[in-house]
Amino acid sequence: MFAKAVGLTDPARDLIHLELGRPSQMTPRHIIDATVDALRAGEVHYSDLAGLPAFRAAIAEKLRAYNALEVGPDDVIVTNGLTQASFAAFMALIDDGDEVILLEPYYPQHLGKIEMAGARPVPVKLDPAGDFSIDPAAVEAAITDRTKAVVIVNPCNPTGRVYTREELEGLADVVRRHDLYVIADEVYDHIVFEGPGHVSIASLPGMSERTVSMYAFTKAYAMDGWRLGYVTAAPTLLRAIAKIVATEVTHVNTFIQYGGRAALLGPGEVLSELVEEDRRKRNIVVERLNQMPGISCALPQGTIYAFPDISGTGLSSQDAADRLMDEADVVVESGAFYGTAGEGRLRVCFGSESTERLTMAMDRMQTFFNAL
Ligand SMILES: Cc1ncc(COP(=O)(O)O)c(C=O)c1O
Repeated sequence: MFAKAVGLTDPARDLIHLELGRPSQMTPRHIIDATVDALRAGEVHYSDLAGLPAFRAAIAEKLRAYNALEVGPDDVIVTNGLTQASFAAFMALIDDGDEVILLEPYYPQHLGKIEMAGARPVPVKLDPAGDFSIDPAAVEAAITDRTKAVVIVNPCNPTGRVYTREELEGLADVVRRHDLYVIADEVYDHIVFEGPGHVSIASLPGMSERTVSMYAFTKAYAMDGWRLGYVTAAPTLLRAIAKIVATEVTHVNTFIQYGGRAALLGPGEVLSELVEEDRRKRNIVVERLNQMPGISCALPQGTIYAFPDISGTGLSSQDAADRLMDEADVVVESGAFYGTAGEGRLRVCFGSESTERLTMAMDRMQTFFNAL
């Protein structure tokens, strides 16, 4: 469940919202300008069903340069955010009676889409005792003759992990040997703070033909309300995805795609500054969480979430989230929302408020946990 809805809209309360993955920044100016220019220039009509060719060319270039995927413009479909990309991917790939492995803690929308497709979600726990790393042997042990695919979120919401090449190679090896697919949600691919960087699982040998890779402008470019994403997969799969996207929405708003193209072709510093701001906020939040009694928090390597262990406070995840909202006016998400592997954790979004309000939220949380 989302954090308890009661009181969330009470205007008399100054709630600080650290529950939703909603970037606090404004979309960069050059992206807005390109979109407004396109509108004024009359880009208001139907266009290519898969997305504007010039936009898809820019996306393909990004996928080659940043994600090391060997793709061209025709290997890409523009979507309404990652949400629509994943809806189309699950509906295209998953059939009634299939089983789909989800690494847990998982992104709950994926679980819902597996169920909508008539399949059975099979959660496999990431290693909670360590650092939520992938355990390929645990994935292999969950495979049956009905298993169709494995879902991976990398960088991972809610754990903040950015999987290493070795972990991904271990998973890819299992997937190849059992002839499975991977549905890869890489919505946070640009929000990486440390280490050797993000690796797309589809870039590993033999994986491009069995992976649906999904992306969006939502998080890194602060474009959550724009609803703009894209998906790439092998041609037969992509044709099925294209049919679903076109049947559902025809195509993404024409002028919005000019904004997306400007995001990709615009100055790289804009993106790095947005990610730098997330890094500064991450450092503040993690340092403060570690000062609270009963709480320990590892530095998330990517995303906009801290996933502190609160088991030392004696509270369950849901009780802690409810009481923080009721008694401290801070809204966070219960870790258990992401599956049982998230019990004993909270998900704290550090990207959704200004630094000043984040600091205020940490003060309130400190007072609450000190008084327990
Ligand atoms: C893992 C993950 N996938 C997908 C989404 C949704 O992305 P979009 O807003 O682009 O549809 C989110 C947003 O929080 C997310 O965290």
